[in-house]
Amino acid sequence: MLVYLKIFRYNPEVGRTTPSYDTYNVEAEPTDRVLDLLEFVKSHMDGTLSFRRSCAHGVCGSDAMRINGRNRLACKVLVKELGRWITVEPILGLPVLKDMIVDMNPFFASYRSVMPYLINDKIPADGKERLQSPEQRERFDDTTKCIMCAACTTSCPVFWADGEYVGPATIVNAHRFIFDSRDTAANERLQILSEREGAFRCRTAFNCTEACPREIHVTQAIAEVKNAVRNGVEY
Ligand code: SF4
Ligand code: F3S
Ligand code: FES
Repeated sequence: MLVYLKIFRYNPEVGRTTPSYDTYNVEAEPTDRVLDLLEFVKSHMDGTLSFRRSCAHGVCGSDAMRINGRNRLACKVLVKELGRWITVEPILGLPVLKDMIVDMNPFFASYRSVMPYLINDKIPADGKERLQSPEQRERFDDTTKCIMCAACTTSCPVFWADGEYVGPATIVNAHRFIFDSRDTAANERLQILSEREGAFRCRTAFNCTEACPREIHVTQAIAEVKNAVRNGVEY
């Protein structure tokens, strides 16, 4: 089938400073992924096209982009889900550097602010390992699935209006450690997320949950963090 692929273009290095679109007519199979089409355009039609990708299998999170108006991973969306007219644009709310490539530094700075790693300086009782029941492990299982693609944060209207909001991806990754019974820094993270640009900026829009390619219950995780700020954490 012939696909009309409309791609956002921006490249200040060559004077293309006004965002615009180029359309490429590409012969495709219904089972091709949008990433395959982008690779074809870059390899055979326009080598200047820029986008991020790495694993090509929904694992690395590097190719989140807006596809027909929705945040998706280009390597996970098939042509047959979209039809002949496909529009590809960068994710919203982060500065565009070139074509589909946005500056991820603000996103990762927010992520680092909640200490997304296990903190526990105490020696385990048996001197070997920190035990955890299956129920305790289940408590944060959903949020371990995050691949940091930013599809959630860049689909959030609060983040679009206020780039200082920590955003759902940061809260999801804080959740992963706040509810881990082996960790000892939940209160520090909850303090950070109780501040002005923290979890209470969320207005329960649910865009984040709809956008997540890992089907994480993002809005629910945010609600659990808000509740923990108010009432503390029970393991
Ligand atoms: Fe991506 Fe989902 Fe993680 Fe957000 S929560 S960064 S959408 S994997
Ligand atoms: Fe935004 Fe998700 Fe809350 S879209 S407003 S973080 S529920
Ligand atoms: Fe890695 Fe799509 S290229 S998730």
